[in-house]
Amino acid sequence: MRFPHDFLFGAASAAYQVEGAWNEDGKGVSNWDVFSKIPGKTFEGTNGDVAVDHYHRYKEDIKLMAEMGLESYRFSVSWPRIISDGNGEINPKGLEFYNHLINECLDYGIVPFVTLYHWDLPQVLEEAGGWTNKKTVDAFVKYATACFKAFGDRVKHWITFNETIVFCSLGYLDGAHPPGISNDPKRYFQATHNVFVAHARAVEEYKKLKQYGEIGITHVFSPAFPVDDKPENEEAAYHANQYSLAWFYDPVLKGAYPEYVVRRIREKGWEPDWTPEELSFLKWAAPKNDFIGLNYYQPQRVIKHDPDAESGPASREAVTGAPGKVSFDGVYKTVRMEDKKYTKWGWEISPEGFLDGLRMLKAAYGDIKLYITENGLGDQDPIENGEIVDVARIQYIEEHLKAVKQGIREGIHLKGYYAWSVIDLLSWLNGFKKQYGFIYVDQQNHLARKKKLSFTWYKQVIANRGGDI
Ligand code: BG6
Repeated sequence: MRFPHDFLFGAASAAYQVEGAWNEDGKGVSNWDVFSKIPGKTFEGTNGDVAVDHYHRYKEDIKLMAEMGLESYRFSVSWPRIISDGNGEINPKGLEFYNHLINECLDYGIVPFVTLYHWDLPQVLEEAGGWTNKKTVDAFVKYATACFKAFGDRVKHWITFNETIVFCSLGYLDGAHPPGISNDPKRYFQATHNVFVAHARAVEEYKKLKQYGEIGITHVFSPAFPVDDKPENEEAAYHANQYSLAWFYDPVLKGAYPEYVVRRIREKGWEPDWTPEELSFLKWAAPKNDFIGLNYYQPQRVIKHDPDAESGPASREAVTGAPGKVSFDGVYKTVRMEDKKYTKWGWEISPEGFLDGLRMLKAAYGDIKLYITENGLGDQDPIENGEIVDVARIQYIEEHLKAVKQGIREGIHLKGYYAWSVIDLLSWLNGFKKQYGFIYVDQQNHLARKKKLSFTWYKQVIANRGGDI
């Protein structure tokens, strides 16, 4: 079986992780520009001031993407580049950059797939309460509408937010992303609710413009499975899926929050300030959402947490995705299992978990259109005789593409696959050592680009529409 002709083979990036040029051409300061410079917050103090200089080298990068045969490039727009203080004047130079980027893609026949929010919030808004402040919702809708109007004649695929659970939980529960707050479930749930309202309002504005493209949201997709069939672990996995899947998918797809979670957060006093108008608006907007993007890296293996057990602060690895973390409400714990495979950063490699998760999603939400908006292997790639021989990445992507193919066979509505990432880039908290790209960036040699083995491999996969997978 080959992948259908309207299935998009792509690869992705995010503005802060690739662009650099953090203070050029009228760009405002983002929360990440500030946060990454607080000592101890990022791996070896790395930041996105230069990143991989995509801002100045996008032509060279897109030329390479075209050589690879890439059908679509998922990238994000930096909000402070478009509106420096988040809510004021539009910066013409910011629009110009993305116009050039989009046009360059289109000149090569590469479909631009645009994310509006991949975590870089204008600092002025962060200081006013960030996503816990409903004024940020209004500002986002203004920014999103400016993007639709400026780019919507050529951009027909829009993602409002990337991974609400990650920027809200790391921002308000783990203190590891801006604004760096720990253990504040009340603010965490408020921020997530405000994001869902912002998403729904952006969808409404987009539809009003009648640009006839599609719009959706991207969630991280980490389905939870119990480590065994003990009832308490099965309950723990159910609880994990309610809090980390249903809380994020239900308001967008069903227009209502999962009762299981609502009941519990009400008892704890963590219920957001949500108005009846907002709740009915979510219900109204849900059917207008066109698709869901899934960022899949790994499943969660879950056990019930023993409340009497010692559980000190989670390690940096656990905060950034490795198992070994107690849930913020103390109900379950993610664990590493002897019989599973893991990356060098401790993330499980599980194409089976991917396929099982896709089936779980279909059972819960029916025939919703899906794009895999991120999937890939973070590795320190081996270099032999000057060549980057990232065989492990090829194996990883091949196995996950097989799962996608099987999903399509089973009638799961999958319309595209975006490898993370198109080019080596800055990992938010893990620096430049954790590589994901098809294109290598030489940090010791003026950020020179070089094709990896996976570049040639993915090129063949695309040319053959995955016939050999
Ligand atoms: C996803 C993000 O959560 O994971 C990306 O959308 C990120 O921006 C990717 O780079 C990999 O995470 P990490 O920590 O390995 O860089």
